[in-house]
Amino acid sequence: MGTIKSFDNLVVLAPLAGFTDLPFRSVAKKFGVDLTYSEMINSNALVHHSKKTFHMIEKAPNETPYIVQIAGNEPEIVKKAVLILNEIDGIDGIDLNCGCPVKKIIKTGSGSALLDDLDQFKRVIETIKEYSNKEYTSVKVRLGFKEKNHVNIAKAVESAGADFMAIHGRTAAQMYKGNADWDAIKEAKAAISIPLFANGDITDYDTAKHVKEHTKADGIMIGRGAIGNPWIFYQIKNSLGVTPKDKIKEIVLEHFHSIIEFYGEDTGIRTFRKHLHTYSKGQTDSSEFRDKVNTIISANEMEQTIINFF
Ligand SMILES: Cc1cc2nc3c(=O)[nH]c(=O)nc-3n(C[C@H](O)[C@H](O)[C@H](O)COP(=O)(O)O)c2cc1C
Repeated sequence: MGTIKSFDNLVVLAPLAGFTDLPFRSVAKKFGVDLTYSEMINSNALVHHSKKTFHMIEKAPNETPYIVQIAGNEPEIVKKAVLILNEIDGIDGIDLNCGCPVKKIIKTGSGSALLDDLDQFKRVIETIKEYSNKEYTSVKVRLGFKEKNHVNIAKAVESAGADFMAIHGRTAAQMYKGNADWDAIKEAKAAISIPLFANGDITDYDTAKHVKEHTKADGIMIGRGAIGNPWIFYQIKNSLGVTPKDKIKEIVLEHFHSIIEFYGEDTGIRTFRKHLHTYSKGQTDSSEFRDKVNTIISANEMEQTIINFF
Protein backbone atom coordinates (compact mmCIF):
# COMPACT_ATOMS: atom_id res chain seq x y z
CA MET A 1 0.00 0.00 0.00
CA GLY A 2 2.43 2.68 1.17
CA THR A 3 1.93 6.31 0.26
CA ILE A 4 -0.38 5.34 -2.59
CA LYS A 5 -3.37 4.31 -0.50
CA SER A 6 -5.13 2.46 -3.28
CA PHE A 7 -4.46 1.93 -6.97
CA ASP A 8 -8.18 1.85 -7.62
CA ASN A 9 -9.35 4.79 -9.72
CA LEU A 10 -6.17 6.82 -9.47
CA VAL A 11 -6.11 10.10 -11.35
CA VAL A 12 -2.55 10.98 -12.26
CA LEU A 13 -0.80 14.03 -13.72
CA ALA A 14 1.55 13.01 -16.55
CA PRO A 15 5.06 14.42 -16.60
CA LEU A 16 5.30 17.23 -19.18
CA ALA A 17 8.75 18.74 -19.50
CA GLY A 18 8.48 22.52 -19.44
CA PHE A 19 5.01 22.51 -17.88
CA THR A 20 4.55 20.22 -14.88
CA ASP A 21 7.04 21.92 -12.61
CA LEU A 22 6.52 22.35 -8.87
CA PRO A 23 4.25 25.41 -9.20
CA PHE A 24 1.95 23.68 -11.69
CA ARG A 25 1.89 20.43 -9.74
CA SER A 26 0.94 22.20 -6.54
CA VAL A 27 -2.01 23.84 -8.34
CA ALA A 28 -3.07 20.45 -9.78
CA LYS A 29 -2.81 18.97 -6.31
CA LYS A 30 -5.34 21.50 -5.01
CA PHE A 31 -7.79 20.17 -7.59
CA GLY A 32 -7.40 16.66 -6.25
CA VAL A 33 -4.88 14.91 -8.50
CA ASP A 34 -3.81 11.71 -6.72
CA LEU A 35 -0.29 11.23 -8.03
CA THR A 36 2.29 13.54 -9.59
CA TYR A 37 5.61 13.03 -11.39
CA SER A 38 8.53 15.40 -11.80
CA GLU A 39 9.46 16.49 -15.30
CA MET A 40 11.91 14.12 -16.97
CA ILE A 41 15.30 14.30 -15.28
CA ASN A 42 18.41 13.23 -17.15
CA SER A 43 20.37 10.67 -15.08
CA ASN A 44 23.63 12.19 -16.29
CA ALA A 45 22.61 15.64 -15.08
CA LEU A 46 21.87 14.18 -11.64
CA VAL A 47 25.19 12.38 -11.56
CA HIS A 48 26.94 15.64 -12.43
CA HIS A 49 25.11 17.34 -9.57
CA SER A 50 23.58 19.99 -11.81
CA LYS A 51 22.05 22.66 -9.55
CA LYS A 52 19.20 23.22 -12.00
CA THR A 53 18.37 19.51 -11.88
CA PHE A 54 18.14 19.46 -8.08
CA HIS A 55 15.83 22.47 -8.26
CA MET A 56 13.68 20.58 -10.79
CA ILE A 57 13.10 17.64 -8.48
CA GLU A 58 11.99 19.64 -5.45
CA LYS A 59 8.53 18.61 -4.37
CA ALA A 60 5.65 20.83 -3.31
CA PRO A 61 4.60 20.67 0.37
CA ASN A 62 1.19 19.23 -0.57
CA GLU A 63 2.65 16.69 -2.99
CA THR A 64 2.60 13.17 -1.56
CA PRO A 65 2.86 10.67 -3.20
CA TYR A 66 5.48 12.09 -5.53
CA ILE A 67 7.47 10.28 -8.21
CA VAL A 68 10.72 11.51 -9.78
CA GLN A 69 11.09 10.46 -13.40
CA ILE A 70 14.56 9.78 -14.75
CA ALA A 71 15.84 9.07 -18.24
CA GLY A 72 18.87 6.91 -18.88
CA ASN A 73 19.94 3.69 -20.54
CA GLU A 74 23.23 2.74 -18.92
CA PRO A 75 22.73 0.74 -15.73
CA GLU A 76 25.90 2.18 -14.15
CA ILE A 77 24.78 5.80 -14.64
CA VAL A 78 21.22 4.99 -13.64
CA LYS A 79 22.50 3.30 -10.49
CA LYS A 80 24.50 6.43 -9.58
CA ALA A 81 21.44 8.63 -10.22
CA VAL A 82 19.32 6.35 -8.01
CA LEU A 83 21.88 6.49 -5.20
CA ILE A 84 21.73 10.29 -5.35
CA LEU A 85 17.93 10.26 -5.23
CA ASN A 86 18.12 7.86 -2.27
CA GLU A 87 19.62 10.72 -0.24
CA ILE A 88 16.65 13.01 -0.91
CA ASP A 89 13.69 12.69 1.43
CA GLY A 90 10.08 12.93 0.34
CA ILE A 91 10.40 11.11 -2.97
CA ASP A 92 8.05 8.13 -3.01
CA GLY A 93 9.17 6.50 -6.21
CA ILE A 94 11.50 6.55 -9.18
CA ASP A 95 10.03 6.25 -12.65
CA LEU A 96 11.96 5.35 -15.78
CA ASN A 97 11.12 7.38 -18.88
CA CYS A 98 10.75 4.98 -21.81
CA GLY A 99 8.40 7.11 -23.85
CA CYS A 100 10.30 10.22 -24.88
CA PRO A 101 10.46 10.27 -28.72
CA VAL A 102 12.71 13.35 -29.00
CA LYS A 103 15.79 12.76 -31.21
CA LYS A 104 18.26 14.20 -28.70
CA ILE A 105 17.15 11.58 -26.15
CA ILE A 106 16.70 8.53 -28.38
CA LYS A 107 20.05 8.95 -30.07
CA THR A 108 21.61 8.25 -26.66
CA GLY A 109 19.54 5.05 -26.38
CA SER A 110 17.31 6.53 -23.66
CA GLY A 111 13.58 7.31 -23.59
CA SER A 112 11.52 5.37 -26.13
CA ALA A 113 14.70 3.89 -27.72
CA LEU A 114 14.72 1.42 -24.81
CA LEU A 115 11.48 -0.06 -26.19
CA ASP A 116 13.53 -1.32 -29.14
CA ASP A 117 15.83 -3.37 -26.90
CA LEU A 118 13.77 -5.10 -24.25
CA ASP A 119 16.77 -6.83 -22.65
CA GLN A 120 18.47 -3.50 -21.98
CA PHE A 121 15.09 -2.04 -20.98
CA LYS A 122 14.72 -4.74 -18.32
CA ARG A 123 18.29 -4.29 -17.08
CA VAL A 124 17.68 -0.60 -16.46
CA ILE A 125 14.40 -1.24 -14.61
CA GLU A 126 16.07 -3.98 -12.55
CA THR A 127 18.84 -1.54 -11.63
CA ILE A 128 16.37 0.99 -10.26
CA LYS A 129 14.49 -1.72 -8.38
CA GLU A 130 17.69 -3.09 -6.88
CA TYR A 131 19.28 0.15 -5.74
CA SER A 132 16.36 2.46 -4.96
CA ASN A 133 15.35 2.90 -1.33
CA LYS A 134 12.03 4.46 -2.39
CA GLU A 135 8.70 2.71 -2.09
CA TYR A 136 8.00 2.45 -5.79
CA THR A 137 9.79 1.66 -9.01
CA SER A 138 7.68 2.50 -12.03
CA VAL A 139 8.00 2.81 -15.77
CA LYS A 140 6.29 5.04 -18.33
CA VAL A 141 6.20 3.66 -21.85
CA ARG A 142 4.63 4.05 -25.26
CA LEU A 143 3.09 1.18 -27.24
CA GLY A 144 6.39 0.53 -28.98
CA PHE A 145 9.27 2.24 -30.74
CA LYS A 146 8.45 1.95 -34.46
CA GLU A 147 5.85 -0.83 -34.25
CA LYS A 148 3.36 -1.67 -31.53
CA ASN A 149 4.76 -4.23 -29.11
CA HIS A 150 2.75 -3.27 -26.03
CA VAL A 151 2.01 -6.73 -24.66
CA ASN A 152 5.69 -7.75 -24.62
CA ILE A 153 6.64 -4.36 -23.21
CA ALA A 154 4.10 -4.61 -20.39
CA LYS A 155 5.27 -8.15 -19.57
CA ALA A 156 8.90 -7.00 -19.55
CA VAL A 157 8.04 -4.16 -17.13
CA GLU A 158 6.33 -6.61 -14.81
CA SER A 159 9.02 -9.27 -14.96
CA ALA A 160 11.75 -6.69 -14.28
CA GLY A 161 10.06 -6.02 -10.94
CA ALA A 162 8.36 -2.65 -11.44
CA ASP A 163 5.51 -1.85 -9.05
CA PHE A 164 3.33 -0.06 -11.60
CA MET A 165 3.44 1.42 -15.08
CA ALA A 166 1.87 4.04 -17.29
CA ILE A 167 1.33 3.58 -21.00
CA HIS A 168 0.76 6.26 -23.62
CA GLY A 169 -1.34 4.76 -26.42
CA ARG A 170 0.98 5.70 -29.31
CA THR A 171 4.28 4.41 -30.66
CA ALA A 172 7.33 6.66 -30.52
CA ALA A 173 7.30 6.87 -34.33
CA GLN A 174 3.82 8.37 -34.13
CA MET A 175 5.02 11.18 -31.87
CA TYR A 176 1.62 12.83 -31.17
CA LYS A 177 -0.06 11.96 -34.49
CA GLY A 178 -3.26 9.96 -34.81
CA ASN A 179 -5.39 8.94 -31.86
CA ALA A 180 -4.21 7.13 -28.74
CA ASP A 181 -5.01 3.42 -29.14
CA TRP A 182 -7.08 2.52 -26.11
CA ASP A 183 -7.65 -1.05 -27.38
CA ALA A 184 -3.90 -1.63 -27.20
CA ILE A 185 -3.81 -0.25 -23.65
CA LYS A 186 -6.57 -2.72 -22.76
CA GLU A 187 -4.45 -5.57 -24.17
CA ALA A 188 -1.41 -4.46 -22.19
CA LYS A 189 -3.46 -4.27 -18.99
CA ALA A 190 -4.92 -7.75 -19.55
CA ALA A 191 -1.40 -9.20 -19.91
CA ILE A 192 -0.08 -8.16 -16.49
CA SER A 193 -1.09 -8.02 -12.84
CA ILE A 194 0.72 -4.86 -11.68
CA PRO A 195 -1.28 -1.59 -11.74
CA LEU A 196 -1.34 0.26 -15.05
CA PHE A 197 -2.36 3.85 -15.86
CA ALA A 198 -3.86 4.59 -19.25
CA ASN A 199 -2.57 7.72 -20.95
CA GLY A 200 -3.27 9.65 -24.11
CA ASP A 201 -5.92 12.11 -25.28
CA ILE A 202 -7.95 12.22 -22.05
CA THR A 203 -9.28 15.76 -21.87
CA ASP A 204 -12.53 15.62 -19.87
CA TYR A 205 -14.61 13.55 -17.48
CA ASP A 206 -16.50 11.60 -20.16
CA THR A 207 -13.31 10.50 -21.91
CA ALA A 208 -11.70 9.64 -18.59
CA LYS A 209 -14.67 7.46 -17.66
CA HIS A 210 -14.71 5.79 -21.07
CA VAL A 211 -10.96 5.07 -21.09
CA LYS A 212 -11.05 3.72 -17.54
CA GLU A 213 -13.96 1.38 -18.32
CA HIS A 214 -12.73 0.36 -21.75
CA THR A 215 -9.12 -0.38 -20.85
CA LYS A 216 -9.81 -1.65 -17.30
CA ALA A 217 -6.74 0.35 -16.31
CA ASP A 218 -6.20 1.01 -12.61
CA GLY A 219 -5.90 4.70 -13.17
CA ILE A 220 -5.87 7.35 -15.83
CA MET A 221 -3.03 9.74 -16.53
CA ILE A 222 -3.59 13.20 -17.99
CA GLY A 223 -0.99 15.43 -19.59
CA ARG A 224 -1.92 18.08 -22.15
CA GLY A 225 -5.54 18.09 -20.96
CA ALA A 226 -4.41 19.60 -17.66
CA ILE A 227 -2.42 22.49 -19.10
CA GLY A 228 -4.44 25.67 -18.70
CA ASN A 229 -7.06 23.40 -17.18
CA PRO A 230 -5.96 22.02 -13.80
CA TRP A 231 -9.67 21.97 -12.87
CA ILE A 232 -9.88 18.75 -14.89
CA PHE A 233 -8.84 16.79 -11.82
CA TYR A 234 -11.72 18.20 -9.75
CA GLN A 235 -14.09 17.50 -12.65
CA ILE A 236 -12.99 13.87 -12.92
CA LYS A 237 -12.81 13.21 -9.19
CA ASN A 238 -16.33 14.61 -8.78
CA SER A 239 -17.88 13.06 -11.92
CA LEU A 240 -18.74 16.44 -13.41
CA GLY A 241 -19.55 16.83 -17.11
CA VAL A 242 -18.48 20.47 -17.06
CA THR A 243 -15.64 22.12 -15.26
CA PRO A 244 -16.49 24.91 -12.84
CA LYS A 245 -13.92 27.63 -13.57
CA ASP A 246 -15.42 30.15 -11.18
CA LYS A 247 -12.14 30.77 -9.41
CA ILE A 248 -10.04 31.24 -12.52
CA LYS A 249 -8.55 34.60 -11.51
CA GLU A 250 -7.60 33.30 -8.06
CA ILE A 251 -5.98 30.13 -9.46
CA VAL A 252 -4.08 31.91 -12.23
CA LEU A 253 -2.74 34.44 -9.71
CA GLU A 254 -1.77 31.73 -7.26
CA HIS A 255 0.02 29.80 -10.01
CA PHE A 256 1.78 33.00 -11.12
CA HIS A 257 2.98 33.90 -7.60
CA SER A 258 4.22 30.36 -7.12
CA ILE A 259 6.15 30.45 -10.43
CA ILE A 260 7.80 33.78 -9.56
CA GLU A 261 8.78 32.43 -6.16
CA PHE A 262 10.20 29.24 -7.66
CA TYR A 263 12.15 30.70 -10.61
CA GLY A 264 12.62 34.38 -9.77
CA GLU A 265 11.16 37.27 -11.82
CA ASP A 266 12.86 36.86 -15.24
CA THR A 267 12.57 33.10 -15.73
CA GLY A 268 9.22 33.11 -13.90
CA ILE A 269 7.69 35.59 -16.35
CA ARG A 270 9.07 33.71 -19.36
CA THR A 271 7.83 30.38 -18.01
CA PHE A 272 4.38 31.70 -17.17
CA ARG A 273 3.66 33.14 -20.64
CA LYS A 274 2.81 29.72 -22.11
CA HIS A 275 0.52 28.99 -19.16
CA LEU A 276 -1.29 32.29 -19.68
CA HIS A 277 -1.74 31.37 -23.34
CA THR A 278 -3.58 28.20 -22.36
CA TYR A 279 -5.50 29.69 -19.41
CA SER A 280 -6.87 32.40 -21.71
CA LYS A 281 -7.84 30.06 -24.58
CA GLY A 282 -11.41 30.58 -25.71
CA GLN A 283 -11.89 33.78 -23.69
CA THR A 284 -12.92 37.07 -25.28
CA ASP A 285 -9.95 39.12 -26.57
CA SER A 286 -7.53 36.30 -25.76
CA SER A 287 -5.38 36.94 -28.80
CA GLU A 288 -4.72 40.58 -27.76
CA PHE A 289 -4.06 39.31 -24.26
CA ARG A 290 -1.50 36.80 -25.53
CA ASP A 291 0.28 39.45 -27.60
CA LYS A 292 0.49 41.72 -24.58
CA VAL A 293 1.68 38.93 -22.28
CA ASN A 294 4.54 38.15 -24.69
CA THR A 295 6.00 41.63 -24.23
CA ILE A 296 5.69 41.98 -20.45
CA ILE A 297 8.95 41.88 -18.51
CA SER A 298 7.86 42.97 -15.01
CA ALA A 299 6.05 40.82 -12.46
CA ASN A 300 3.90 43.75 -11.33
CA GLU A 301 2.68 44.43 -14.84
CA MET A 302 1.97 40.76 -15.47
CA GLU A 303 -0.03 40.54 -12.25
CA GLN A 304 -2.07 43.62 -13.15
CA THR A 305 -2.70 42.28 -16.67
CA ILE A 306 -3.96 38.99 -15.21
CA ILE A 307 -6.25 40.85 -12.78
CA ASN A 308 -7.70 42.96 -15.60
CA PHE A 309 -8.19 40.08 -18.03
CA PHE A 310 -9.66 37.21 -16.02
C1 LIG B 1 5.32 19.29 -23.88
C2 LIG B 1 5.36 17.85 -23.47
C3 LIG B 1 6.33 17.42 -22.58
C4 LIG B 1 6.38 16.06 -22.19
N1 LIG B 1 7.32 15.67 -21.28
C5 LIG B 1 7.33 14.39 -20.84
C6 LIG B 1 8.25 13.98 -19.84
O1 LIG B 1 9.06 14.75 -19.32
N2 LIG B 1 8.22 12.66 -19.46
C7 LIG B 1 7.32 11.77 -20.01
O2 LIG B 1 7.32 10.59 -19.64
N3 LIG B 1 6.44 12.16 -20.95
C8 LIG B 1 6.41 13.43 -21.36
N4 LIG B 1 5.47 13.81 -22.26
C9 LIG B 1 4.42 12.87 -22.67
C10 LIG B 1 3.21 12.98 -21.75
O3 LIG B 1 3.53 12.62 -20.42
C11 LIG B 1 2.03 12.11 -22.22
O4 LIG B 1 2.45 10.78 -22.25
C12 LIG B 1 1.52 12.52 -23.60
O5 LIG B 1 1.40 13.92 -23.71
C13 LIG B 1 0.16 11.87 -23.90
O6 LIG B 1 -0.77 12.20 -22.91
P1 LIG B 1 -1.84 13.41 -23.08
O7 LIG B 1 -2.61 13.16 -24.33
O8 LIG B 1 -2.70 13.32 -21.83
O9 LIG B 1 -1.05 14.67 -23.15
C14 LIG B 1 5.43 15.14 -22.70
C15 LIG B 1 4.47 15.58 -23.60
C16 LIG B 1 4.41 16.91 -23.99
C17 LIG B 1 3.33 17.35 -24.95
